[in-house]
Amino acid sequence: MKNVVISGGTSGIGRQLVHLFLDEGHNVVTFSRNKKKLNKLFNEVKNFPGKLSCMQCDVSKPEQIKKISLKLKKDLKTVHYLINNSGTNSLGTIDKIKLNDWKKIIDVNLTGPFYLTQCLFSALRKNSVVLNMGSIASKTGFPNWSAYCSSKFGLKGFTESLREELRPKGVRVIHAEVGATNTAIWDDLGDGWNKDSMMNEKEVALVIFDNLKLKNTVNIDEFTLMPPAGIL
Ligand SMILES: NC(=O)c1ccc[n+]([C@@H]2O[C@H](COP(=O)([O-])OP(=O)(O)OC[C@H]3O[C@@H](n4cnc5c(N)ncnc54)[C@H](OP(=O)(O)O)[C@@H]3O)[C@@H](O)[C@H]2O)c1
Repeated sequence: MKNVVISGGTSGIGRQLVHLFLDEGHNVVTFSRNKKKLNKLFNEVKNFPGKLSCMQCDVSKPEQIKKISLKLKKDLKTVHYLINNSGTNSLGTIDKIKLNDWKKIIDVNLTGPFYLTQCLFSALRKNSVVLNMGSIASKTGFPNWSAYCSSKFGLKGFTESLREELRPKGVRVIHAEVGATNTAIWDDLGDGWNKDSMMNEKEVALVIFDNLKLKNTVNIDEFTLMPPAGIL
C-alpha cells in the first residue's frame, strides 16, 4: 500500500488516476477548490479497496498549500507518489490577454507544482516518484496559448532541475507530455475544438498509471501521449 498525493483529482485525468490508485488499494489524497466536486468524488469511490482523503485547497494559494502539506507530512510520513496534476487555461492573443489571467495560469500550472513539491520535499524518499503533468504545449507554442505554453514550458524546466536534484536521493521524476484529451478543461476555451478526435481521459490515465510503475534499471524521464490524429 502506497501513499499517493494527486492535485486536482476531482475531474478529468486526475479523477481517473484517483480511481486507478484506489482500485489497487492505495492510500490516496487529493485536493481541489470545489467542495461539491470533492464530496461527489468521495462518494463515488466509497466501495473501492483503497482509502481516499479529500481536502479543499487552491494550489495557487501558498498559505493553503503550506497548511495541507504540514498535515500530509504528519499523517503520511512518506509520499510514494506525488502527481502535480491541477491545471487551468484561458486563451487570448498577447496584445489582449489580461495580466490577471496570465498570472493565474502561471500560479496554478507552474508556481503551484513548485511550492507543493517544496513543501512535501522531506516526505519524498528513496523510490518515491514525482510526476508533473505537462502537455504538448510544453514543447510547442500555439497562437492564443502564450500563458498556458509559458506555464507548461516552465514546468518542464522545473521538472528537469527537480530530477537532477532528487537523483542522489533515489527519487524518480517523470514529465508527462499529453496531447488533447477530452476533459472539462476545454469547456471554457470556446467552440470549434474537435472533441471527437481527442484522447479519452480514462485511456490517458491508464497509460500514465502504467508508466509510474518503477523498473529496476530503467527510468522513464518523460513520455508523450498524442491522439492518433496528432495536434488538433
Ligand atoms: N485535457 C487536455 O487536453 C490536457 C492536455 C495536456 C495536459 N493537460 C494537463 O492535465 C492536467 C489535468 O487537466 P484535465 O484536462 O484533466 O482538466 P480538468 O478536467 O479541468 O481537471 C482539472 C483539475 O484541476 C483542479 N484545479 C484547477 N484549478 C485549481 C486550483 N487553483 N487549485 C487546485 N486545483 C485546481 C480542478 O478542480 P477545481 O476546479 O475544483 O479546483 C480539477 O480537479 C492539467 O495540468 C492540464 O494542463 C490536459
